[in-house]
Amino acid sequence: MRSKVTVVGAGMVGATTAQYLAAKNIADVVLVDIVEDMPQGKALDLAQAGPVVGYDIKMVGANDYAATAGSDVVVITSGSPRKPGMSRDDLLRINKNIVQSVTEEAVKHSPDAVIIVVTNPLDAMCHAALEKSGFPSERVLGQAGVLDSARFRAFIAMELDVSPKDVNAFVLGGHGDTMVPLPRYSTVAGIPITKWISAERIDEIVDRTRDGGGEIVRLLGTSAYYAPAASTVEMVEAVLLDQNRILPCSTFLTGEYGINDLYVGVPIKIGAGGVKEIIEIELLDDERKALNHSADAVRELVDAMANL
Ligand code: LAC
Repeated sequence: MRSKVTVVGAGMVGATTAQYLAAKNIADVVLVDIVEDMPQGKALDLAQAGPVVGYDIKMVGANDYAATAGSDVVVITSGSPRKPGMSRDDLLRINKNIVQSVTEEAVKHSPDAVIIVVTNPLDAMCHAALEKSGFPSERVLGQAGVLDSARFRAFIAMELDVSPKDVNAFVLGGHGDTMVPLPRYSTVAGIPITKWISAERIDEIVDRTRDGGGEIVRLLGTSAYYAPAASTVEMVEAVLLDQNRILPCSTFLTGEYGINDLYVGVPIKIGAGGVKEIIEIELLDDERKALNHSADAVRELVDAMANL
């Protein structure tokens, strides 16, 4: 039987996730949104692209969760973007409520699913989903590190005018201004970038990576969606095909990296069932300090959310 993926939220990130997923032809897709007719319309449009693009998965849109039953993966993209005049706590409260109610509905119909959270503020929203789902933390993870690393990789490739396919890089920490791009572990065809790019330029690329989401918002007036969706699909595929990829994902840490009971982006082995292993890499003092600083920023949000 074909795998099944539910994508909750049929906005730009959700619909683009459904599109990229369909193109892989590896799972039926249910697109859910509270807005009437909208997920049905987008799903029908995507189904009609199938004959041309060459996929034959089933793509359906729905407003309720009955159609999502038995999903192997549930991707949560629904939430409000931050609007002018809205405080961080306002956004935190609104999206916590959305993520919790979506999680509650989704797990009723798909008790064995892996949940991949995409809604911001990302790491805090993973806590909301974990708590509401009652799932083991291996089955609740967040998409951020793949996106942040993709941005880092793209900027390195632009800098050197090389194929981004040959660029490997990763970013640790929370999905926010405090994220920790790691130049020392970033390579082009195995060659460390620290041998190719000056320290000054690396610092600039690191800063641009940290501001990667903000740069797009300033250009588009709205959140990015192509790279976030592509990054989400990479995680979904790793789970469905049990690929054992090593990807940076927001993961619930219980002592790894000296961090306890907190979602933070770290490299994991991801495959069937979600997180198979948390990979602990060696960090220099300043890298560890930066990771702790990032974890503190996540902790602050999680604590603020608990008091809402
Ligand atoms: C970004 C948002 C989607 O980084 O978190 O673009």
